[in-house]
Amino acid sequence: MTAAPTHRLGVLISGRGTNLQALIDAIDDGRLDATIAVVISNRADAAGLERARRAGIDTLVVDHRGWPSREDYDRALVRELQARAVRVVCLAGFMRIFSREMLEAFPNAILNIHPSLLPSFPGLEPQRQALDYGVQVSGVTVHLVTMDLDAGPIVVQRTVPVQPGDTPDTLAARILIEEHKAYPEAVGLILQGGWRVEGRRFVRSSTGAEV
Ligand code: GRF
Repeated sequence: MTAAPTHRLGVLISGRGTNLQALIDAIDDGRLDATIAVVISNRADAAGLERARRAGIDTLVVDHRGWPSREDYDRALVRELQARAVRVVCLAGFMRIFSREMLEAFPNAILNIHPSLLPSFPGLEPQRQALDYGVQVSGVTVHLVTMDLDAGPIVVQRTVPVQPGDTPDTLAARILIEEHKAYPEAVGLILQGGWRVEGRRFVRSSTGAEV
């Protein structure tokens, strides 16, 4: 008999949810020792909600509209996550910026995935930004979330060469393949423990204490 996984994740989405699927698959395959306690979307029409339901995961829509402030919305998210004893929050295409409410509730425990080699090309349309700039290598970054957009300590990066004739869509598709490897890997590193943040740096030590 194997022990039930104890690491409880909350995954926040706004759209199609392929990174959510990568996490679900990694858990199912035994590559990631965790359980997804809840998937929350700010949009009722996010296709990722159906992926979660198919996997038997609890889902919730917390619409961002209609709250008096960003803080109020974040407090609602924190309530739902804490009610399910979530320890680590994974942003997987969640198109909202957090206030301090969320960051203080989950210090160094919120991860985001961004399809460029940060600090290059933060923000929207990073694949288009990379092509417009003319870089020859791009990739994916998984980082801890801080108050600065797409600028927290880097947990995992994977590179993707730009090919002649690439469009934002073709580059995005090749980066996405690496995203699906990078996210489970980064979540695993965070859950395994034995790391600290020094300045901007995510530093791993040899002994791993569980978080
Ligand atoms: C991904 O490219 C991710 O890096 C970015 O938003 C996109 C979400 O895609 N933050 P999906 O919903 O996981 O398929």
